[in-house]
Amino acid sequence: MEYGLLRFFHVLGAVLINAGLIGVWLADLRSRQLSELKPCSEAVRNITVFYDGLVVPGALLLLISGTWMIAQFYGGWNFLHIPWLAGMVGLFAFEFVEGNTITRLYFSGRAA
Ligand code: HEM
Repeated sequence: MEYGLLRFFHVLGAVLINAGLIGVWLADLRSRQLSELKPCSEAVRNITVFYDGLVVPGALLLLISGTWMIAQFYGGWNFLHIPWLAGMVGLFAFEFVEGNTITRLYFSGRAA
């Protein structure tokens, strides 16, 4: 029961993060095609809505349910000996750092 629920929330997190990233990508693409300020600022706002409304909640769901499953069913730090699992956690950690440094600076206009 607990395992089933955790898997459900993990897959739900994956669906949300992917839906959000597709939305961000399309809104970003659109914002670059517009020359008038108003529609352009609407497209930029849509980027934020997709990030904060879908990508961030999805990532949090993945992190919480994934950590929970590792602690409960995969022997904690033992996950380091399971290649696909270590890869998933490693890539997530990399994306987390990259998303909160380079990408965040870029979207908030503070990058060169
Ligand atoms: C973008 C990030 C991630 C994506 C897209 C993702 C996606 C997936 C998918 C599709 C599965 C197979 C689901 C199933 O059939 O049960 C899975 C399994 C799993 N993931 Fe992730 N995951 C991500 C991040 C993480 C993180 C950060 C952790 C841990 C901290 C984690 C831990 C696990 C575990 C323990 C399983 C095994 C579930 C089972 O026993 O069925 N994942 N993940």
